[in-house]
Amino acid sequence: MRKVLRDMLSLYLTGALLLLGNAAAGIVDHNVIVHRGDRMNLLDLAQSLNLTVFVEAMEKTHLDNTIDHEGPYTLFSPLNIAFENIPDYTKEYSLGDLMKLHVARGDYLEKELKDEQLIRSLLSKRDVRINIYKKKSGKLITANGQKLNETDFDAHNGVLHIIDGVMNSIYAREGTALKEVSSGALPYYSFNTLSRAVKSSDVVTSLLDGSGPLTLFAPSDKAFSRLPDSVNDYLLKNKTALEYVLKYHAISGRTWFTIGLEDNMNLQTAATIPLTVSIKQDGVKVGDAKVVLPDFCVANGVVHIIDNVLLPPGFPQF
Ligand SMILES: *[C@@H]1O[C@H](CO)[C@@H](O)[C@H](O)[C@H]1NC(C)=O
Ligand SMILES: *[C@@H]1O[C@H](CO)[C@@H](O)[C@H](O)[C@H]1NC(C)=O
Ligand SMILES: *[C@@H]1O[C@H](CO)[C@@H](O)[C@H](O)[C@H]1NC(C)=O
Repeated sequence: MRKVLRDMLSLYLTGALLLLGNAAAGIVDHNVIVHRGDRMNLLDLAQSLNLTVFVEAMEKTHLDNTIDHEGPYTLFSPLNIAFENIPDYTKEYSLGDLMKLHVARGDYLEKELKDEQLIRSLLSKRDVRINIYKKKSGKLITANGQKLNETDFDAHNGVLHIIDGVMNSIYAREGTALKEVSSGALPYYSFNTLSRAVKSSDVVTSLLDGSGPLTLFAPSDKAFSRLPDSVNDYLLKNKTALEYVLKYHAISGRTWFTIGLEDNMNLQTAATIPLTVSIKQDGVKVGDAKVVLPDFCVANGVVHIIDNVLLPPGFPQF
């Protein structure tokens, strides 16, 4: 009952402001009111852009009310088709959390977006990470790894950008690359060997647990089990060699979502030697490892799961 009254009141007020604005136009400077009143609210705008699945999800999770009463917000609204291509593991997150991640606090037009910018989302302590990649095909802007399709739709309570895909992963609060990998947060694969190895080195621990940004190619336990025993033994005995190998899996200073990568490009690893990317019909490879699950957002960057341990060139052969 109260809510209905409040809604009626706010409707009445909006109407009154509009009338006031229109009546006063040309007499007093009420431009702001007239202008704001002219524009739709974010969800009506999304509806008018045919982003109907997104709108339904926002309504189902009652976020429509939240964003109508506060603001401004930046909505990253996936195309309808994007909801048909959600990875299975993403369906395990709560829809409410997932949708909150698509709502950023503040008004961010395309021209205000910067590479590696972090914008607070409605999901507590989780950000929307912006990346700008200069590709051969042109400039590409991403939000949590999802491509911005069309931008800068203006509403009275914020701005809306259309994205190509649904943001596919949610990290825990303060879920750095190291924490997400070692807590079992990533689906399908386990990382006990990697976690133990990283934690045996302060240097690598602070790299993967630091503020980032970084890209980690994370070999699963299965990947480690593919190493010959002689290599495993060597890495267990020689800490310098182990650190060197681990650093070869990390790119410090940049979040490389797979959409930003190009075939044949070299990534400068924390081991200070380059790692070559290859993009073929059957997927993405770095060095000799295949990316088996890409693009897990973490608090300090992104994690890709790989099926082989990367051994730097010149690493002792056995
Ligand atoms: C809106 O989306 C629906 C479902 O995705 C589609 O069938 C329809 O053609 C779209 N309409 C417009 C005007 O784009
Ligand atoms: C946006 O997505 C639609 C549908 O996939 C596509 O046809 C269009 O080219 C995209 N526009 C941009 C600017 O990426
Ligand atoms: C340990 O590994 C480093 C780096 O690969 C190498 O330079 C060094 O010779 C190795 N030490 C021993 C005792 O094998």
